Amino acid sequence: MTCLVVRIGGSVIASPVNTDLIGKYADLIREIKLQGHKVAVILGGGTLAREFIGIAKNLTLESAAQDRIAISVSRLYAQLFMEKLGSLGYGKVVTTLDEAEDCFSQGKIVVMGGLKPGHTTDTVGALVAERLAADLLVKGTDQEGVYTKDPRKFADAVKLGQMNFDDLSQVLECHEHKVGIHQVIDSMAIDILKRNHVKLIVFNGFKPENLLLAAEGKQVGTVIS
Ligand code: UTP
Repeated sequence: MTCLVVRIGGSVIASPVNTDLIGKYADLIREIKLQGHKVAVILGGGTLAREFIGIAKNLTLESAAQDRIAISVSRLYAQLFMEKLGSLGYGKVVTTLDEAEDCFSQGKIVVMGGLKPGHTTDTVGALVAERLAADLLVKGTDQEGVYTKDPRKFADAVKLGQMNFDDLSQVLECHEHKVGIHQVIDSMAIDILKRNHVKLIVFNGFKPENLLLAAEGKQVGTVIS
């Protein structure tokens, strides 16, 4: 049995909302759980979260308040997902690491959005992986994996198959928290994963079948260890 944390980007399931994909991920997560694995799922807030961040900014709210608004949006998607899991879910969106542990001890699937201001749901995934002693964190994003530079800006960016956490930090453009930032993975998350020796796989989340391949340890996207 493995313990798996699945981080699904809001850029994948919520930008715009992709009901079909949300349903497919729920089916896959159920399948993985029924195979005997422990699973936690962390969802981001996508464009709706960014829209609300914009509204909060226009209202001159400080950045912690902007983050809290975005967290609420991510939890709305988490609630949808948790409801769709039915009896395999915990009955509520998990909002603390203690609750995540309790959920696991009851044999249920952890479903979360954001946790607290000052980081992203990637860091939530890493913190959950640390607390639950997960073997693997997989992130479904809107790219095929990690590139030498941002593929949305540079046509000559090259996708990497395997790398270590230090190399991953090198290719990130931003190393500090910015509200609503969209980056392949957060640098705070990388530090947590590295010190806990949790393997990370970044794959194209628009191809949900990648999740099963990643969970089986097959080469998909970019593998970071
Ligand atoms: P994410 O950027 O993690 O969501 O959180 P996402 O939509 O899945 O992002 P992609 O697809 O990976 O790009 C959205 C925003 O919510 C706030 C931050 O402002 C973050 O940018 N947030 C999220 C927090 O403040 N704390 C959290 O624990 C999570």
